[in-house]
Amino acid sequence: MSENNNREQWGSRIGLILAVAGNAIGLGNFLRFPVQAAQNGGGAFMIPYFIFFLILGIPLMWIEWGIGRHGGRFNHGSAPGMFDVLWKNKAAKYFGAVGLFISLVIMIYYTYIESWTLGFSFFSITKTYFDETSFDTMKNFLYSYQGREAGTHFDSLLPAYIFMLITFAINFWILFKGISAGIEKLAKIAMPLLFVFGVILVIRVLTLGAPDPTHPENSVINGLAFIWNPDLSKLGNPSVWIAAAGQIFFTLSVGMGTIHAYASYLKPKDDIVLSGLSTSATNEFAEVILGGSIAIPAAVAFFGLTMTTQIAAGGSFDLGFVSMPLIFRQIPFGEFFGFLWFLLLFFAGITSSVAMGQPVIAFLEDEFKISRKKATAILAVVVLISVQFVIFFLKFGFLDEMDYWAGTFGLVLFAFVETVLFMWVFGADKAWKEMNEGGDIGIPRIFYPIMKYVTPTVLFVIMIWWFVQDAFPILLLTNSNPEQVPYIWGARILMILLYAGLFYLIKKAWSKSSR
Ligand code: TRP
Repeated sequence: MSENNNREQWGSRIGLILAVAGNAIGLGNFLRFPVQAAQNGGGAFMIPYFIFFLILGIPLMWIEWGIGRHGGRFNHGSAPGMFDVLWKNKAAKYFGAVGLFISLVIMIYYTYIESWTLGFSFFSITKTYFDETSFDTMKNFLYSYQGREAGTHFDSLLPAYIFMLITFAINFWILFKGISAGIEKLAKIAMPLLFVFGVILVIRVLTLGAPDPTHPENSVINGLAFIWNPDLSKLGNPSVWIAAAGQIFFTLSVGMGTIHAYASYLKPKDDIVLSGLSTSATNEFAEVILGGSIAIPAAVAFFGLTMTTQIAAGGSFDLGFVSMPLIFRQIPFGEFFGFLWFLLLFFAGITSSVAMGQPVIAFLEDEFKISRKKATAILAVVVLISVQFVIFFLKFGFLDEMDYWAGTFGLVLFAFVETVLFMWVFGADKAWKEMNEGGDIGIPRIFYPIMKYVTPTVLFVIMIWWFVQDAFPILLLTNSNPEQVPYIWGARILMILLYAGLFYLIKKAWSKSSR
């Protein structure tokens, strides 16, 4: 049992809270949430959303901060080592491999998506897309940038590739600098700016009124009504509940191993109860208030309800990268607002993607005793090789396959495993004591039975539901386009290789040390 005296540490409490809030606040808050809300009953969606916030989001936050700080006490910054100290069983560390795997796989494609936002903030300020007047041509602008269609504006992936390289360089540079001088410093700059940009954009959207006098019904007010009017009939539909649970997971960044990694750099007696709550609350503000007031209301004001429904059905990217640019080109100083919008997304993205890099780096540092710089370099090589497939095979569904297994199914699986390990194997009483240790406030008692019984049961039900509904057909490629099948297998092979590599490293780390 070693003491964690020479572990890296957060410089300040506010820095830590901003870093974890930055981890949680991501593209999901501004693109995924409004689409989910609009498609799943608007205001009514907020009912299951809030329920799952209470029975999944908040409990998992505390559980993850708890597991993470506990692991840090034994010098473990990633799930394999953390699980190993929770459960004295040889298998424990291999369950932890899931935590490394998910953050690694998601980092590979999320950082690439993040690079599009950097590209588009550049295209805003330079008015590159200002000639695109229709949905079709703007879509073509985006799709040709991504290499999914031949296009008039982009005839190669070169611009996307350059922005990818810049984005990865910034990410790895920050990771290279470390917890306090890298991640924390980034959060202290990017998070306040993100909020300022968000507020400016919300004010701009709320003052749009009804831009087209011939269509007074296309107004911001109706946009807000569209996203918030409760359609209670949707609540009878289980898929609305599943969507709400999925959004809670995604937006709070739980079920991935990244909160644990950040929490491992706390001191054993630092508060986690209030910090976990503050970061969740900050995320919800950014999601519900800022995220809910920008893209959808603006789309309704400019394109009307019918069109906005279609845009939302096209997914988060159409909303962010197609409909928003078409609005910016029509408003005064649109290049400036477009720049702010995409830069906001970039800041939201980068404070999340660095978090995804941290577990693997911590794993290499802690379990192999190599330097942070060397660990970062190894991660950079693996990620940069893997992302090539994502970039060049994007149109064949490579990214989607990775997103499903790691970013959707994997999260729930990992959350279930960690909850059972902490609340049942380690023991609910010990876990409760661990989470409350050093707390500025106590966790309300009602969360004891919630964490012990409700959270794992709900996770189990969601997992089974997803498995039957989606995972099976996806696994068997039932609805896949035959042309994509070889690439989907390619994505699976890449994931299997990454998993096998992690598995091997865990085995090696534990066999060479005398534990
Ligand atoms: N919460 C992020 C968002 O809203 C996405 C995300 C999910 C994430 N899991 C994560 C970010 C883990 C960092 C680490 O976009």
